[in-house]
Amino acid sequence: MSTKIRIGIIGCGAIAERLHAPEYANSPDADLVAFCDVVKSKAESIASKFAPGAHVFTDYMQLLKNADVQGVSVCLPNYLHGPVSINSLKAGCNVLVEKPMATSMAESRRMLEAARKAGKLLAVNQSQRLFPAHAKAREVMASGIMGKVLHVSAMFGHAGPEYWSPSGKWFFDKKKARFGAMADLGVHKADLVRYLTCKEVGSISAFFERLEKKSASVEDNFVAALKFTDGTVGTLAASWTVKGAEANYTILYCTNGTLSICAFPGRPLVAHLIHPECEINFDVPPPPENDDNGWGLDIGGRFCRAIKGEEEPYCSGEEGMKSLEVILAAEKAALSGRTVRIKH
Ligand SMILES: NC(=O)c1ccc[n+]([C@@H]2O[C@H](COP(=O)([O-])OP(=O)(O)OC[C@H]3O[C@@H](n4cnc5c(N)ncnc54)[C@H](O)[C@@H]3O)[C@@H](O)[C@H]2O)c1
Repeated sequence: MSTKIRIGIIGCGAIAERLHAPEYANSPDADLVAFCDVVKSKAESIASKFAPGAHVFTDYMQLLKNADVQGVSVCLPNYLHGPVSINSLKAGCNVLVEKPMATSMAESRRMLEAARKAGKLLAVNQSQRLFPAHAKAREVMASGIMGKVLHVSAMFGHAGPEYWSPSGKWFFDKKKARFGAMADLGVHKADLVRYLTCKEVGSISAFFERLEKKSASVEDNFVAALKFTDGTVGTLAASWTVKGAEANYTILYCTNGTLSICAFPGRPLVAHLIHPECEINFDVPPPPENDDNGWGLDIGGRFCRAIKGEEEPYCSGEEGMKSLEVILAAEKAALSGRTVRIKH
């Protein structure tokens, strides 16, 4: 008989409502028992929608003390990821923290150390790893049909966080967000290219700019040139000023052909091979929609089963930290105008 893990959600904004809460509510492995938000009505509203009767708190320390939870999702503004994750781990709770996992390498190391000391799980919601086209692309790459990756191109762009979370003014405030588009969207692709190629970035040059969000104290556009440790090259881009249609693609140019992921409308995963010359359209669902039914990724079930030791987390704290490191190196490169090396 499967045991349900008692779960709390800290931060009841857009990602909690659209992804975490519905996916826990849909999972036989999770028992969603507590919600916390400084704005009580937000916690109440999401509780009534996904887990009527759950406890509601406005202070996360009270949730940790009184709700008897075994795991929490940390769905807060970026500057709170580190401190709230560390206090949750110290309280003996397993943590699934949103991306970017922290605002500095030192903070992410303290989070890993807190998890180690507590003997609890720290996982990072690099959710793009689970998109069906991405999961299938990883299988295709592992099968060897594409050969070796030579060049990578990845971009994530939309019109800005004001369209995703209208109340989330913190996204534009450097003190609370720490980064703009570069980490909000760029960290997804930094993680994804590491995940798909199984390669690490060795050096990086980058630019960022604030082109339209003039009242923000963070960048709204970012581009980086990457050289992986084996010499593979690539580009990583993120933008909050993409209009009309979202950009959310990754292309792997390989010795045997090209693997295009979410690059062509209606065709989420396409391989163009040269020997024999052919086009393969893989049968995978499109990327998730932003509604309140979850994204069909089973992030809640996966976290609970990882807590029970039944499977590995889809993105460990160590992996989240490596992807954050790419973004921090890019920031250093952009600020200094120099190429920055990442030591491995
Ligand atoms: N994995 C993904 O695809 C994805 C997508 C969007 C956002 N995110 C990440 O999720 C996090 C949250 O983003 P969001 O869009 O939900 O933001 P949001 O502004 O919609 O929600 C944040 C919530 O935290 C609450 N809050 C702030 N301080 C608090 C505190 N001290 N205690 C309790 N509650 C507090 C706010 O009231 C708000 O309801 C961010 O780190 C973001 O990068 C991840």
